Amino acid sequence: MEPEQPSYRHRFTHFTDALIPVYNWGFNVLGGRSHEAFRRRVLELAALKGDERLLDAGCGTGMLALRIAARHSNCAVNGIDLSPKMIAVARRDAEEQGLTADFRVGSITDLPYPDDSFDVAITNIMYHHLDLAEKRQAVAEIARVLGPGGRYVSAEFGPRARNALQRHLAKGEYTLYPSHLTEAGLAITREELGVLALRKQVVYRVAVKQADPT
Ligand SMILES: C[S@@+](CC[C@H](N)C(=O)[O-])C[C@H]1O[C@@H](n2cnc3c(N)ncnc32)[C@H](O)[C@@H]1O
Repeated sequence: MEPEQPSYRHRFTHFTDALIPVYNWGFNVLGGRSHEAFRRRVLELAALKGDERLLDAGCGTGMLALRIAARHSNCAVNGIDLSPKMIAVARRDAEEQGLTADFRVGSITDLPYPDDSFDVAITNIMYHHLDLAEKRQAVAEIARVLGPGGRYVSAEFGPRARNALQRHLAKGEYTLYPSHLTEAGLAITREELGVLALRKQVVYRVAVKQADPT
């Protein structure tokens, strides 16, 4: 019998895992100013008040979560990623930098946190790993773990892949659609476009969990 094909998500996760040895370097050096501007914008939009509970879902090597932990020492910083290798790097870097953050292995589609666990959730450039059904599940999970009035900042590739490599890697399923957020009871309060390295389009969205979605 043919071995079962790994799901698209897992194939792509192996791809990002393979980049781990050069991952942070790639972002910081090759990504240069556009990635620095990207991270800064996500933090501005998150507008952290300092003592809030934050989740970075699909946190990768924890670069942004650790930056938040460094700046907001009263903030309870949590990161989750499907890749044990990414989380191992995040935990190692937290220890090396003397920072406190809770990094867990797990999927955004089945978050291991109770309802109303966070004031702020962020996701950066991770929805291209998910198929359409998983995206809906993921946003529903984000909405579940946010408290009423909780803020969700997503920064994702724009709806149009800009080159053949992006189209190939993402099989056209690049982006997060506004309807995913509204269906989950999150009201979009802000939406803007930006640019990442290699002229990749990014869409920033801020959404707020409605106190009573009915
Ligand atoms: C392009 S990386 C971005 C990482 C990080 N957000 C950053 O900005 O550096 C996408 C990450 O999503 C993770 N990922 C893929 N599918 C996931 C899932 N179902 N749940 C949680 N993380 C996932 C991958 O392992 C990878 O670390």
